[in-house]
This record gives sequence, structure tokens and C-alpha cells, in this order.
Amino acid sequence: MKSIKKKMVVVMAAAAIAVLSIASAASAYTYKVLARNDLGMHCACPTFEGFLLLPPFNTIRAQVFRMGGDPSPITSGVTVSYSIPENTDAILKADPYYSSWLTFSPKLFPGFAPVNAQGNIVGITGKKLADTMTYDATSRSYIAVGVPVYPVTTGTTKDIMIDPLGGPKRNPYITANITVKDTAGTTLATTSTIMPVAFGGCCTCHLPLAAQNGYPATPAGSFAYLGVMHAQNTSKINIAMIDPDGDGVGGPVRCSWCHWDPAMGESAAPGWPTATKLLPGATFTLKKSVYSFSDVLHRFHAKSQKVLTQFDANIATNCYDCHPGNNVNCYRGTHKGKTAIWCTDCHGNLTQRIATNQMAKPWQTASLPTCFGPSAGITSAFACHATFTASTWDPGLFGKFINGVGHEGKVLCESCHGSAHSEAPSTMALDNVENATLQGNTAFTFPAGKDKTYSIGVCNVCHTSRSNNWSRPPHSGN
Ligand code: HEC
Ligand code: HEC
Ligand code: HEC
Ligand code: HEC
Ligand code: HEC
Ligand code: HEC
Repeated sequence: MKSIKKKMVVVMAAAAIAVLSIASAASAYTYKVLARNDLGMHCACPTFEGFLLLPPFNTIRAQVFRMGGDPSPITSGVTVSYSIPENTDAILKADPYYSSWLTFSPKLFPGFAPVNAQGNIVGITGKKLADTMTYDATSRSYIAVGVPVYPVTTGTTKDIMIDPLGGPKRNPYITANITVKDTAGTTLATTSTIMPVAFGGCCTCHLPLAAQNGYPATPAGSFAYLGVMHAQNTSKINIAMIDPDGDGVGGPVRCSWCHWDPAMGESAAPGWPTATKLLPGATFTLKKSVYSFSDVLHRFHAKSQKVLTQFDANIATNCYDCHPGNNVNCYRGTHKGKTAIWCTDCHGNLTQRIATNQMAKPWQTASLPTCFGPSAGITSAFACHATFTASTWDPGLFGKFINGVGHEGKVLCESCHGSAHSEAPSTMALDNVENATLQGNTAFTFPAGKDKTYSIGVCNVCHTSRSNNWSRPPHSGN
């Protein structure tokens, strides 16, 4: 108790000094901000009228440091905000796919209004497309949780993602511009990072599958047939006959009403909205699944004879069948650039993921890989960073890299290394812009084989009187 109190006093004193100096002498200091999307990729769907896997929901974390001697992590006295040039209210309201989210999300999340009284688009946690970030002591960063971003057509070379419904290509790597201001409104620091969001591969199989079975090869036809198939499993539930708001039309349904999903903040399936009715002719009763959403999806497809014989005999290793692959290449970080490492080397293939029971604890430290080794029970052909130690906090969602802090326990692993699956230097140029800008000072020097796109290793990006040479900073201390 005593030592905690003492620490509190020190922290508060430090914060007070920070506030004072920012307000009184902003120009005396230089500030740095490092921002990252927590996940290397977030999945979205082109339509929301049938079902929802995951809502638009990207989270950015930004760490602010005041330079001068050793850098002070800033926790108050500044305003950190973001804006997203490719995703303004006007752009998203005019987008036909996003309109589907605006129309159907209140049925998926009863009580939620996707546009607020001022006409701004908001995500399910209330974040706007341009908004402020809040300091979060747990993650040691300013965070914006659940920003409702979406891939859009920009008319630029960034439009790389193929639309499974045949529309124009879209940009899955959206830009977030981060600004730090003092209380007087003076800009102290800025940076730009990527908010990745892309369509997965479900439609590639499910549109032709619907057509083969006499349904239109459209999202609506596919949903109708999905309902028929779901009614053939032990649940007997035709999900297309679930009418969540009682308007006489089936859908939309949220799979995580019945299949619990930690990525939706759930530790148990919450069940369907109270207004839910079944369409006339329905002969089943609603019940929740005992399995996680990750579990049913991975397990079913890896084991279905129809999938294996008619669609992809190698689905157990072809994660890009569903995770954003085609032209998006969500797995794009340095591991991909240097070697032939694939998803299965770190996570295991689907047969192994099932055998090691990973999907009973999805999205969690217990089942995810780390820098130090693959997922429990998986043997990798590649040597991981086994001798490397760094402790972490475990908020129960995601793993030891995203939730890791090193370097005196002050700097997030991701602040220096980039997001998971897009670790610096990334094979995708856009990911490297942030580090290249931070380490772009011509006074900085790099050893042979390294350059400014590598993980942040020039001490004087953050310190003032250490080295201008890039090297591996001390990692210990949490
Ligand atoms: C490689 C092709 C392929 C991909 C990719 C794919 N599916 Fe399927 N899916 C199928 C096939 C084929 C069936 C029917 C299998 C059968 O009848 O045994 C099926 C069945 C289903 C079912 C019915 C399961 C049940 O209850 O019986 C659901 C739900 C489903 N898929 C959802 C999805 C979602 C969501 C995605 C994307 C995350 C997806 N599928 C991606 C091929 C695919
Ligand atoms: C109203 C509740 C409910 C909803 C909504 C729901 N499911 Fe299910 N689902 C179940 C139940 C119950 C089972 C049977 C397994 C069990 O008892 O746990 C099941 C089974 C499955 C299976 C396993 C099939 C097999 O035989 O292995 C898949 C795949 C599946 N669901 C996918 C989905 C997808 C995808 C969605 C959203 C599009 C969805 N479910 C929505 C209740 C639901
Ligand atoms: C049939 C489609 C499909 C295939 C194939 C697939 N995934 Fe997934 N995966 C999904 C979906 C959909 C989610 C999101 C589920 C959720 O929201 O909980 C997901 C989530 C995950 C997660 C996070 C949840 C968890 O279980 O910890 C991991 C890890 C993962 N997938 C790994 C893989 C790997 C590795 C492969 C290839 C070996 C793969 N997936 C192949 C559809 C698929
Ligand atoms: C070099 C090892 C490695 C490879 C290759 C890899 N992953 Fe991961 N993956 C990880 C690690 C480590 C985590 C845990 C990150 C964290 O949350 O700390 C992770 C987490 C995830 C998650 C959960 C979300 C998250 O970031 O925590 C999903 C989904 C996922 N991986 C899917 C994939 C898919 C799909 C592929 C291939 C296309 C893939 N991974 C390739 C190491 C890898
Ligand atoms: C202050 C910046 C910074 C922080 C914070 C940081 N790293 Fe690093 N890390 C680096 C740099 C720079 C390298 C050298 C990268 C290279 O050689 O390309 C490195 C190297 C590594 C390596 C490569 C193996 C080795 O031993 O060199 C691993 C693994 C690693 N870091 C993991 C982590 C983890 C896990 C965390 C969080 C607990 C973390 N790092 C925090 C900057 C950082
Ligand atoms: C991303 C910003 C960042 C980079 C890059 C960085 N540091 Fe730090 N460093 C910090 C922060 C923040 C602290 C914590 C200061 C505090 O506790 O107030 C710190 C503290 C330290 C400390 C402990 C304090 C002390 O004086 O003993 C050492 C040693 C240190 N850094 C060395 C380095 C070296 C060497 C490099 C380059 C190879 C480096 N750092 C790169 C942010 C950074």
C-alpha cells in the first residue's frame, strides 16, 4: 500500500510539472508522437443487410513524449486528436456499402444510432471519424477505441482491394493523421499512421455456392442459402428467418448473439434482441451455441467434405481463403519480407488449431503466438526470438506483442515495431511512411543493411542527448 501511495504522489507530481511546462513554455520543448492501429488488419463486409461478423471498429493508440534529457511520456495537459482524410462523414454517407451499415446497424445493436444529433457518423463506442483521443493508463497511450473506418474507393493507386461484388476497387489502408496540441492550441507534434480495414474472402465461395443451389449469386441470395445450411446443423436454426426488429423481414443477424466472440467484448453469448421474432413458417426455437464464433467458423470449414472436395482441399493452410488476402495481403510485415514464414508457422494450420483447442480461448494470450514462440503446442520450422524476454500486461484480449511494453516499461512494442503482421520494415510501402518520417532526419545514421524504415532505433527520435546512430534500444524493464 505504502509504496503504491508513494508512486502515486510521484506520478501526480510529474504530471503537474508536465502540465505546467506545457502551458507556460510550449516552445521550450520538442514533442514526438508515435501512433499505431492496435491490429494489423480489421475485417469488414460489403453489406450488412444479412449478417454481421464484426462491425467497423479500428483502435488507434498514440504515445506522446516530451524531449529534453530523457523523454517524458506525456499523460495529460495535451489534446491528442485524429482525422481521416479518406473517411469523412460526406464520403462514407455517399458510399453505397457504408449506407448499408448506417441502415442496418441499429437492428444489429438495438439502441445504437450510427449518426449522432450533429450529423456525425459515430462507431458503436461513440467515436467520430475526426475526434479526440483519451489517455489510458493501462495501455500507456492516448487511445481512440472503435473508430468506424471502412475501405473506400479513392481514385488513387491506393485502391488495391478487389470488390467481390464487382464494384470498383477500394483502399483498405486508410490514413489517420494524429495531432498533439497544448492547452493554448499550439501544435506540438503530428504523425500519420495506417488504419487497415478490408473485406474477407467469404463471398468468393458463398456467391457461387448460392448459385449452385438455386439462389441468386448476390449477398441476399447467399444469406438465404446460409440460413438453409445453418438449419441443417444440430441447431436447426435458419438464421435467415430471424427477424431481430419484428418488421417482417429476415435479418440482419449478428453471429455473436449466439457464438460468443471476445473481439466483440464478449465472454459469453449475449443472446438476440428482445424484439426478435421468427418469420412465418419457422419451425425451430432460438438457442445460443456453446462454441465461440472463431471455433464454429474455422472448425466447420476445415472439416466440411464439400469445402474440401469442391472448393479448397488445402483450406487448413490457406488462411487467405477468408482473411484478407487477394491484393490486400494483410500479412505483410518483416517476417514475410525476410523468409518464407506463413501464418501456419506461428499459429498452426486449422487442423492443429483445432487439435490444440485454440478456439476455446480465441483472441487471447493463451492461444495466440508471441515473438518468443508459436502458439502453444505448435512446432515451427523457424527459430523464433526465444532468448528474448519482456513482460506484458494481459487485458484478456489480444496477445503479448500488442499488449507489450518495453524500454523502461514506457514504450509500447508497437510504437517502435509497428502493428502485428505489419512489423517494420513492412513489405507494403505505406506502412513504412511513419517510421521513415520519424527517422528521416539527415543527421541520423544507419548501419549497413538498415535504414529509416526499420523499427525505431535512433535514440534521438525520442531522447535529445543520446545517439543519432540507429541500434537496438534496451528492451528490458516493464
Ligand atoms: C473455400 C470456400 C469457402 C469460404 C472461403 C467460406 N465458405 Fe462458408 N461454406 C463453404 C461451403 C462449401 C459450405 C457448405 C458446406 C457443406 O454443405 O458441407 C459453407 C458453409 C457455411 C456455413 C453453414 C454452416 C452450417 O451451419 O452448416 C456458414 C455459416 C458459412 N459457410 C459462413 C462463412 C463465412 C462467414 C465465411 C467467411 C468468413 C465463409 N463461410 C467462407 C465454403 C466456403
Ligand atoms: C440464434 C442463435 C444463432 C445465431 C444468430 C447463429 N448461430 Fe450458428 N449455431 C447456433 C447453434 C445453437 C449451433 C449448434 C452448435 C451448438 O449447439 O453450439 C450453431 C452452429 C453453427 C455452426 C457449426 C456447424 C457445425 O455443424 O459444425 C456454424 C459454422 C455456425 N453456427 C455459423 C454461424 C454464423 C456464421 C452465424 C452468423 C451468420 C451464426 N452461426 C449465427 C446458433 C446460432
Ligand atoms: C472459413 C474462413 C476462415 C479461414 C479459412 C481461416 N479463418 Fe481465421 N478467422 C475467420 C473469421 C471470420 C475470424 C473472426 C472470428 C471472430 O470474430 O471471432 C477469424 C479469426 C481468427 C483468429 C482470431 C481468433 C482466434 O481464434 O484466436 C485467428 C488467430 C485466426 N483466425 C487464424 C487463422 C489462421 C492461422 C488460419 C489459417 C491456418 C485461418 N484463421 C483461416 C475465418 C477464417
Ligand atoms: C511471424 C508469426 C506470425 C505470422 C506469420 C502470422 N501471425 Fe497472426 N499473430 C501472430 C502474433 C504474435 C499474434 C498476437 C499479436 C498480439 O495480439 O500480441 C497474432 C495474432 C493474430 C490474430 C489475432 C489478432 C491479433 O493481432 O492479436 C489473427 C486474426 C491472426 N494473427 C491471423 C493471422 C493470419 C490469418 C496470418 C497469415 C495470413 C497470420 N496471422 C500470420 C503471429 C503471426
Ligand atoms: C524504443 C523502441 C523499441 C521498443 C519499445 C521495443 N523494441 Fe524491439 N527492437 C527495436 C529495434 C530498433 C530492434 C532492432 C530491429 C532490427 O534489427 O531490425 C528491435 C529488435 C527486437 C527483436 C528482434 C530480436 C532481437 O533480439 O534483436 C524482437 C523480438 C523485439 N525487438 C521485440 C520487442 C518486444 C516484444 C517489445 C515490447 C515488449 C519491443 N521489442 C519493444 C526497438 C524497440
Ligand atoms: C520511442 C522513443 C524512444 C526511443 C527511440 C528511445 N528511447 Fe530510451 N527512453 C524512452 C522513454 C519514454 C524513456 C523513459 C524515460 C522516463 O522514465 O521518463 C526512455 C528511457 C531510456 C533509458 C533509461 C533512463 C536512463 O537515463 O537511464 C535509457 C538507458 C534509454 N532510454 C536508452 C535509449 C537508447 C540507447 C536508445 C537508442 C538506441 C533509446 N533509448 C531510444 C523513449 C525512447
